[in-house]
Amino acid sequence: MSEETRQILDMNAFRPGVTQADPAVARRLRNLGAASVLFYREPIEMVAARGAWMEAKDGRRYLDCYNNVPSVGHSHPQVVAAVCDQIGRLNTNTRYVVEVVDTYIDALKAKLPESLENVVLTCSGSEANDLALRVARAATRARGVIVTETAYHGNTELTTQVSPSAWKRGGKPDWVECIPAPTPKTARNFGESVARAMAALQARGHRVAALLADSIFSSDGVYADPQGFLDAGVEAVRLAGGLFIADEVQPGFARTGSAFWGFARHGVVPDMVTMGKPMGNGFPMAGLAARPEHLAMFCRDVGYFNTFGGNPVAAAAGLAVLRVIADEGLEENAAWAGGRLKSGLGRLAKETGCLGEIRGAGLFLGVDIRKAESGRPDPDRTSGIINGLRDEGVLIGAAGKHGATLKIRPPLCLSAEEVDHFLGAFERVVAG
Ligand SMILES: Cc1ncc(COP(=O)(O)O)c(C=O)c1O
Repeated sequence: MSEETRQILDMNAFRPGVTQADPAVARRLRNLGAASVLFYREPIEMVAARGAWMEAKDGRRYLDCYNNVPSVGHSHPQVVAAVCDQIGRLNTNTRYVVEVVDTYIDALKAKLPESLENVVLTCSGSEANDLALRVARAATRARGVIVTETAYHGNTELTTQVSPSAWKRGGKPDWVECIPAPTPKTARNFGESVARAMAALQARGHRVAALLADSIFSSDGVYADPQGFLDAGVEAVRLAGGLFIADEVQPGFARTGSAFWGFARHGVVPDMVTMGKPMGNGFPMAGLAARPEHLAMFCRDVGYFNTFGGNPVAAAAGLAVLRVIADEGLEENAAWAGGRLKSGLGRLAKETGCLGEIRGAGLFLGVDIRKAESGRPDPDRTSGIINGLRDEGVLIGAAGKHGATLKIRPPLCLSAEEVDHFLGAFERVVAG
């Protein structure tokens, strides 16, 4: 297969018509139609999950090293109890004062830069990014947006326009400029890349409203280092009157082990922060943290209301997640278990020709799979490893421009035994 660019939803995806669908899969396809996206050549029907493990209908157990939604562990008893308790007492639209909601926002703000005094809770990361872009445009009275070339920021019309990894047809809008992912070799030139993008936008008549970046560049292939490389790009955008939006949907909530947020590893203070996925440990919730003056400028034009975003049950789930991260030392565990995982993978890379660069921070790792002879990206082998691990009872995914990077992102509670279980399975699969 050539080094074609892969669309994010096609990576590690079940392909109807290529693989035989069992009755449960066929029913799903009938129900969801073309919008159905399933993992693996042979999709798995899941029935339960606990900690880092998921259980399929046939009784098989899988070590979940992919899923950063149930980030503090599947079905965490404290989160389950908080949700059940709150939904048994009060859940409503968001136009009442409810104590748990403000208690949650205060606790969340204690984790954020002081300048981001306002938090708007939403139901999905897409909604949070959509709002952030609209706020940036209102605050700057500019239109241009800079993103990385394999970024994913959401599924609304506006966020799809800034998600090159989701584009199947058509070109990018003229107000969008894409920059290459900051690899370890090129990250130090991030500021120059951003400056070039602003000049390109300007040449098409657009001033920059925002640099929107996932601060661990997950869909680009996981680029975390060297710490600090974001700074020059952020400074360049601000000098031109634009804002920096840190998309923390993937690296946020202690995953990187070295900071609670991905941007904090780079020592920058964003103008806006968006978050989602791990925020409610599976309860659908997301949000935007912004400076009051920016939000006020936006609300002068249109205002914002979200029926479900930040409802009492979401707040209870979010509060429980923050407490579990602190009580169980999950940021420290992400650093420790992630270190063990990364060094184990490093050992295996010395023994096998197909493993290339290993990147990432804490429990968010990317491993390039390459052809041993040429060193070129190998998406077919990547897919073979992912499906081989599935057969070994271990779940991971793919990322990167060519779909040739393994994305390893287990729950933050991963134990030493589970790290070793992963490494044992991984060794068998890459050797096979
Ligand atoms: C970096 C990033 N931003 C935003 C989103 C969109 O979040 P959601 O699927 O909750 O709308 C995603 C989802 O994968 C993401 O990875």
